[in-house]
Amino acid sequence: FLISALLIIIGYLLGSIPTGYLTGLHLKGIDVRQHGSGSTGATNILRTIGKRAAIFVLAVDLAKAMLAVILVKLWFFVASTEIIPLEWKPWLVIFAAIAAVLGHSKSIFLNFTGGKSVASSLGVLLVLNPIVALGTLGSFLGMLSLSRIVSLSSITGVIAVNVLMFGLHQPLPYCLFGVIVGLYVTFRHRTNIIRLLQGTEPRLGQKLQQEG
Ligand code: G3P
Repeated sequence: FLISALLIIIGYLLGSIPTGYLTGLHLKGIDVRQHGSGSTGATNILRTIGKRAAIFVLAVDLAKAMLAVILVKLWFFVASTEIIPLEWKPWLVIFAAIAAVLGHSKSIFLNFTGGKSVASSLGVLLVLNPIVALGTLGSFLGMLSLSRIVSLSSITGVIAVNVLMFGLHQPLPYCLFGVIVGLYVTFRHRTNIIRLLQGTEPRLGQKLQQEG
């Protein structure tokens, strides 16, 4: 039990690593939370810093979430089934995954602020089920090439995760992960959704009219 709790805490701390914030501070001396959409995610780094910085932030945010899940899987690999019963395993994976996703947008190092948990969710998915992850990424990229709006593409990704999880008959904890994280990521995009409805959400390369 102690190791399980520790792995969930480590997942949260890994998710909390404030890649975007540190990148903004280091490269431009700014707090990205005061600029653009206020998010510390790769999209806002692209908007406020630039392409290379955004790719870096995206890569690290994906990797930290992947690591959170990989650590749990590594533990399963070394621990015997007497220590951790088989039926608990997918639940522990999901708790650590949710902790990492939460950490990204409610970082302990940033006073519980952060990003919108899109890259971190994708990172988790890549380890949980690469087919679901790639299908989700495909739908994201498809919508992005059509609309050039990242937030709309992220919300499309949320729908795709759930269709794929249930459609491919994934284990219940994985399906629940899709539902819970999907609702959470959608909630994190509430100001984007309002702008989308108002028709003011910026496309890639456009500036944000009102900050929020
Ligand atoms: O990944 C976050 C994206 O969907 C929206 O980011 O900065 O445009 O609110 P942003």
